[in-house]
Amino acid sequence: MSKNKYLDILPAHIGPYEILGKIGKGGMGDIYKAKQKTLDRVVAIKVLPPQLSRDNEFAKRFEIEAKAISLLQHQNIVTIHECGEDDGYSYIAMQYIDGMDLGNYIAETKVIAVSDIIDFSKQICRGLLYAHHHNVVHRDIKPQNILLDKSNIIHITDFGIAKIFSTTDIDITQTGSTVGTPEYMSPEQAQGKKIDAQSDIYSLGIVMYEMLTRKPPFTANNSMAVAYKQVHEPPIPPSFKRKDTPKQLELIILKAIKKTKRDRYESVEELLTHLDMVDPNERTDRQTQLFRPTFKQTSASAVDQRITDRRSGDRRGGILSGVHQPVFSGGYWKTMLRINWPTWLTIAALGSVLLVYIFKQ
Ligand SMILES: Nc1ncnc2c1ncn2[C@@H]1O[C@H](COP(=O)(O)OP(=O)(O)OP(=O)(O)O)[C@@H](O)[C@H]1O
Ligand SMILES: [Mg+2]
Repeated sequence: MSKNKYLDILPAHIGPYEILGKIGKGGMGDIYKAKQKTLDRVVAIKVLPPQLSRDNEFAKRFEIEAKAISLLQHQNIVTIHECGEDDGYSYIAMQYIDGMDLGNYIAETKVIAVSDIIDFSKQICRGLLYAHHHNVVHRDIKPQNILLDKSNIIHITDFGIAKIFSTTDIDITQTGSTVGTPEYMSPEQAQGKKIDAQSDIYSLGIVMYEMLTRKPPFTANNSMAVAYKQVHEPPIPPSFKRKDTPKQLELIILKAIKKTKRDRYESVEELLTHLDMVDPNERTDRQTQLFRPTFKQTSASAVDQRITDRRSGDRRGGILSGVHQPVFSGGYWKTMLRINWPTWLTIAALGSVLLVYIFKQ
C-alpha cells in the first residue's frame, strides 16, 4: 500500500483490493470502499493505525479475535471477509453496506416512526442474540456501528473490535480518546469493570432511547461527565420528550438501561420477547397493560409483572411517579406538591406580602 498518511492521499491498493474511495474516518482508523477484482465484489476496508502492527501482543490478539468475529454469519451482522496486512498496515476487509449508518439516519429523519424503531431494535437484537450465543460481545454498540441498507435491513459492524484494542497500551485512537463511546457506555464499562452481554443490552437501550428522542439520555461536554452520568444519573423517561412513546416500549428501554445488571434485561432473548409484544400505537398516557406472552414461558410473566409494577406505582421510586395520574386526582397534586414545592413556597410568600400590603393601606 502506498499511502502517505500525512498528506492523506488515497492509496491505490490495499492488499489485493483496489481502492475506490474513502467512506469515513473512525476513532481507530480510516475506512475505504474497495473492489476485490478476483471475486468482482465491492468491499469495505478498515485500515488500522500502523503502530499496532509492530506490537506483538496486539498482533496475536488481532489474529485470535478476528478469527472469532469472521465466523459470525448472520443477516444483521456485517460479514468479515478477511484480515490482512499490507506495508505495515493491518486491515479488515468486510461486506460493504450500501446505505447509511443509524447516526446519520437519526440526524436526517426528524421523527422516526415508532414502528420503524421497534423494527430496527428487533433486528439489532437478532444480530446481538446470534453473536452472544457464539460468545462474542460487541462492546461498542452505537448508532455509527449500526448500518442500514436501502431495504431497511440492519447490519451491525465492528463486532468485538473494541476487545482487540482493549489489551494494547498504544493510544490507537486518532483523537487520543479511549476505546468505547461514553454516551453509549454501560455503567460497568464506564467504571472499568468487566463487560458482558448485558453491557451490549445497555448500549442498545441507549440507542433505542436516541432513536425515539433524537438524543442519548446522558450527554455533557466532556467524557468524564458523561461517564459519571451513566453511573449515577437516572434517565428522564423518553415519553417526557416524545409524547407518542408507547408505554411498553418506554418500560423496555428503561429496563435495558438500568444501572445495575441485576435490574437490567439478563439476555437479549428476554428483551426481544418483550419487543415482540409492543403495540406501536399504544400511548404512554393510556393505562398500563400487562405484557401478555402468547406462548408459555415460566419466567416472563414475573418479569412482565415486575416492569409493569415499577412503572405504575411508587416502586418506580422517582419523584416523578404520579405525574401521569389524572389532573383531578389527589395523587397528581400530591406529586406536583412534591416536585414543585419551592414554587408553591414562593407563591405563598409573595401572597402573604401582598396581603400585608393591602391590609396596611
Ligand atoms: N461495512 C461498511 N459498509 C459501508 N459503510 C461502512 C462500513 N463500515 C463502516 N462504514 C461507514 O464508515 C463510518 C466510519 O466507520 P468506523 O467504524 O471507521 O468509525 P466509527 O464507527 O465512527 O468509529 P469507531 O472507530 O469507534 O468504530 C461509519 O459510521 C459508517 O458510516
Ligand atoms: Mg465503527
